[in-house]
Amino acid sequence: MRSATLAHPLSAALDQIHTEAQALFGQGQVADYIPALAQVQPRQFGMALALTDGSTFTVGDAHTAFSIQSISKLFTFVLALKVVGDAVWKRVGREPSGAAFNSMVQLESEHGIPRNPFINAGALVITDMLTTRYAHLDYALLGALRRLTDDPTLSWNVQVAKSERETAHRNMALAYFMKSYGNFVNPPELVLDNYCRQCAIEMSCAQLAQASMFLANAGRDLNRHGQADEQMLLPDEARRVNALLLTCGAYDAAGDFAYRIGLPVKTGVGGGIVAIAPGMGTVAVWAPELDAKGNSVLGAFALERLVQLTGWHYASR
Ligand code: DON
Repeated sequence: MRSATLAHPLSAALDQIHTEAQALFGQGQVADYIPALAQVQPRQFGMALALTDGSTFTVGDAHTAFSIQSISKLFTFVLALKVVGDAVWKRVGREPSGAAFNSMVQLESEHGIPRNPFINAGALVITDMLTTRYAHLDYALLGALRRLTDDPTLSWNVQVAKSERETAHRNMALAYFMKSYGNFVNPPELVLDNYCRQCAIEMSCAQLAQASMFLANAGRDLNRHGQADEQMLLPDEARRVNALLLTCGAYDAAGDFAYRIGLPVKTGVGGGIVAIAPGMGTVAVWAPELDAKGNSVLGAFALERLVQLTGWHYASR
């Protein structure tokens, strides 16, 4: 990994964004519907860039591990594409939902088929598919993320997983509802165990930027020395995942994110956001205070400023 010098324009951009973002502290609230997440100190901010040439840039709390929550849905979906292929589309759609991430309303009129793999219902179906394929999905996913980050210590937070599992009434309801339509194979209790562990995985911004590099690099991962590593997805598959992230990665704020930022993103209620600039690099940002739709206030601001300062845009490549 080459470290950047302070004189680099991207370092200067990150420093500027870090300074500007401080003014937004206090505008959002940390997630508290998962009791363990309510304990997180709200006024934290970290940001990391990883470029396809192997260089990295960080600012603030970029090396502090946080709960990736729904960002895990990106990685489980990629795993499902690899092991199930296009058959995933028999059980989940690929349209924006326009509804809250944990909404039930569309599921009845759409006969138990979730709109996309990134809302909770869709991610539960994906985790159900993977639970069928892996005897120990929790460790299989962790293994994949450990390889992508080159960090063998990466893990889920046991307290956060337990806290979510004990209060997962709505997700359990979504799973049973889909089961009533024949779109759920495994016992919901078992799938929820896996789902809560995947959401409780902890990563830093620096790790998240590295782990998602394959999406900016035509499906190929880079190791921590910036060298080509595992071909995670075919270039065409990476292109399609990015399209889904652009249209569905921020739930009912996906349109607003595309308008303000214009990059494929995945957000999580831990306050993390990962953004993909295809051909250029990845950006991970973390600040725990969320807006009403469950997306990081400072994170969205920081990404908007970054694209303004750099000109990075999905449509520019
Ligand atoms: O299932 C849940 O509600 C959480 N584990 C994840 C939700 C989430 O991160 C939505 N993101 N904005």
